[in-house]
Amino acid sequence: MMATLLVSKNVLLVMSLTMCVTLQIMVGVVSGRLLDNTKIHIMNNMSHPFTMHGLFRDDNGFHTLQPGESYRYVFYKYPLWNMLWSLTFHWNGSEYYKYNIYDSRRDSCYQYNCYWQIIEDGPCQIVHNYTEPLCFSWNY
Ligand SMILES: *[C@@H]1O[C@H](CO)[C@@H](O)[C@H](O)[C@H]1NC(C)=O
Ligand SMILES: *[C@@H]1O[C@H](CO)[C@@H](O)[C@H](O)[C@H]1NC(C)=O
Ligand SMILES: *[C@@H]1O[C@H](CO)[C@@H](O)[C@H](O)[C@H]1NC(C)=O
Repeated sequence: MMATLLVSKNVLLVMSLTMCVTLQIMVGVVSGRLLDNTKIHIMNNMSHPFTMHGLFRDDNGFHTLQPGESYRYVFYKYPLWNMLWSLTFHWNGSEYYKYNIYDSRRDSCYQYNCYWQIIEDGPCQIVHNYTEPLCFSWNY
């Protein structure tokens, strides 16, 4: 009886210690930059509108961007797992182009902001220390 009591006391002690440590880690993660908002900015650099579509949390809509217009997706980047997220683009007379607009292993968004400018040939990424956008082909 006594032994059982001691054991369960120890278990309780270990459990509360574990919770304390976990809470501290969570507070550290939230107050640090690890769980900051990541923003994907997408701009229409064509002379006509386009529509993009992608399943993205509660945002599963179609977004039509006029020439020069931008749209911003906001999400939390979780440091412990990889994230891959694609969008489908099309406009009048084009194919449906699917592109991985965010890949946590590929993209290191400067200060949690990723910038894309969409042209006919494909998406162009603004890398913070490049002066020119880096353009990719749709089907690469
Ligand atoms: C897209 O448009 C912006 C604003 O006009 C311009 O600064 C940028 O160079 C353009 N990017 C491309 C890839 O054409
Ligand atoms: C798409 O292009 C065709 C041919 O130029 C035009 O007749 C039609 O109105 C356009 N549709 C839209 C939705 O802009
Ligand atoms: C640009 O930034 C990347 C990562 O932020 C860094 O690895 C690279 O050395 C930088 N290039 C220049 C020319 O500063």
